[in-house]
Amino acid sequence: MNALITNIRHLVNVRGTSHPLRGAELAQLPVLENAYLVVRDGRIGDYGAMADLPEGPYANLPLINAEGSSVLPCWCDSHTHLVFAASREEEFVDKLQGLSYAAIAAKGGGILNSARKLADTSEDALFEQAWNRLQELMRLGTGAIEIKSGYGLTVQSELKMLRVIRRIKEKTPIPVKASFLGAHAFPPEYRSDHRGYIDLIIQEMLPAIAGEGLAEYIDVFCEEGFFSVAETETICRAGMAIGLQPKIHANQLSLSGGVELGVSLGALSVDHLETMDDAAIQALAGSDTIGTLLPTAAFFLRMPFQPARKLIDAGSIVALASDYNPGSSPSGNMNLVVSMSCIQMKMLPAEAINAATLNGAYAMGCGEQLGSITLGKKANLIFTRPIPSIAYLPYAFGSNLIDKVMINGAFI
Ligand code: NIG
Ligand code: FE
Repeated sequence: MNALITNIRHLVNVRGTSHPLRGAELAQLPVLENAYLVVRDGRIGDYGAMADLPEGPYANLPLINAEGSSVLPCWCDSHTHLVFAASREEEFVDKLQGLSYAAIAAKGGGILNSARKLADTSEDALFEQAWNRLQELMRLGTGAIEIKSGYGLTVQSELKMLRVIRRIKEKTPIPVKASFLGAHAFPPEYRSDHRGYIDLIIQEMLPAIAGEGLAEYIDVFCEEGFFSVAETETICRAGMAIGLQPKIHANQLSLSGGVELGVSLGALSVDHLETMDDAAIQALAGSDTIGTLLPTAAFFLRMPFQPARKLIDAGSIVALASDYNPGSSPSGNMNLVVSMSCIQMKMLPAEAINAATLNGAYAMGCGEQLGSITLGKKANLIFTRPIPSIAYLPYAFGSNLIDKVMINGAFI
């Protein structure tokens, strides 16, 4: 697709080159006011101030008058569990009546509940549901997404989930990355045979995944009552041996040690981080591992929010993602994630937008393709309704300020 887009009120996150942003850099959000942007073959071909728009070269391109919309790179949601078989609002009501997330999990609810439902759902039905969720998220501005397995917990069902993700990847125009999360919970039959389940992951699931090329990343739920640090390391190393880079669920419910392990393994990201101490913050800050914060999960489980300020001030690379899943974040709305990050974690609007675009893109291996207005990157763009300033986006939480979404230069 080719186009000339004119009269953009704010062109947001304009960068000559890009890299993951850490510390004080995160608050630098370069904005070009009253701008034009040229799309060439679905990519960003040129941009500049309207006053400098050259007369000749773009005269024959299809014209899109943005009419005062602001234009941002699409959200890059680097942590979701988009494929699941059923919602779990009955557990939501249990939680309202006093049960904790851990207590629900211990009595066979939670992830195991989702695994039972997924086992009984066909690949086609799972695909259909996940596809419909993705269409909604794209209309809300998500232009790249990572999706995890982890509600299978058997060879057959984990592969079924990963094949659904592959079908989504083949059909959707947005970049999709797959993470293998077979180590999401121990199935009941392996509750007292952890070694048995880990062997199943390593000896049967991983070779099948490698054979079909079904995943880019390996994820483990490193948490008390789930996978220990030693178990997480064993599984991650086996994944790394077949070329999967770790992205770990760490420090959600407790000081699990998952952050330090992730850093020592060179994980692409460690995600959640509700429960952090100084050692974990320092370990992350001294590394290239991205700390992915999932504030809607903290919100939904009524947990303390992630210490975003401490992490940023210590110099960590921080990204934001939705964690869309039926148990702890039944919403994949990245606009809400950005608002909540400002309201509850005191991130500045510029920091939250960078963390949900550019750093999110790096947290799913797409930083050179997406996440900023940079020549050659994909034209996956959000067109807002008219807004007075960029801070208005997180400020006016709850209003849908997305007017149109462009993927590879075409409106969806
Ligand atoms: O990221 N914490 C582990 N996994 C998911 C929740 C899974 C579920 O409850 O279904 C999360 O929050
Ligand atoms: Fe998650």
